[in-house]
Amino acid sequence: MSSNTPRLAVIIASVRDGRFGPVVANWFAERAREHGGFEVDVVDLAEAELPLALPATSPMMDPNPTRPAGMAALTRSLDAADAVVIVTPDINRSYPASLKTAIDWHFTQWDRKAIGFVGYSGLTGGLLAIEHLRSVFNELNAHTVRNYVSFPRYYLLFDAEGNLTDPDDPAAAATAMLDQLHWWATALAAARIAA
Ligand SMILES: Cc1cc2nc3c(=O)[nH]c(=O)nc-3n(C[C@H](O)[C@H](O)[C@H](O)COP(=O)(O)O)c2cc1C
Repeated sequence: MSSNTPRLAVIIASVRDGRFGPVVANWFAERAREHGGFEVDVVDLAEAELPLALPATSPMMDPNPTRPAGMAALTRSLDAADAVVIVTPDINRSYPASLKTAIDWHFTQWDRKAIGFVGYSGLTGGLLAIEHLRSVFNELNAHTVRNYVSFPRYYLLFDAEGNLTDPDDPAAAATAMLDQLHWWATALAAARIAA
């Protein structure tokens, strides 16, 4: 891969015991590697230290505060990323608190980056979480791409090995989103350098 290849961080948002998130994230990360347009990094929020008490000073005043040592790897991955894909379930019609905490501890790491979504849950397939996240990332000056991947009733769609029993439509949805993400990630990376 060339040094201009955009870096994509795939974030596992759920940190719940017995979570399904890693299965969906690994499926998507494999699609992203097959796509060939990105250097792919899977980032598991369960491995990060995510205190609910945010820094005393607002990010507008102090965009890179002292963070917990256990958050350093997450921050490094977000710093390096040109694009981020959030893999999220719906939790009470929104996204997990672990994800909100990870988002709120960062600021410049989202600025002028391209963001995509993969959702899964019971009836709504992550779409309620995704819609909430679009407005959060708007506040952070990130660009969310139109296309997404959604798995309503995901438990009917994956086999015991974590493979989709009918993979064609989700793979096509992933490719369409990755194409959009690649365009935006490349354009925004060039514009950030020029700015
Ligand atoms: C507290 C809680 C609230 C949930 N709320 C919703 C919801 O509003 N809509 C929905 O479709 N599924 C909902 N679910 C189902 C989750 O999306 C499902 O359990 C999913 O597997 C959670 O992701 P995880 O297994 O990676 O933690 C909820 C689950 C939990 C534990």
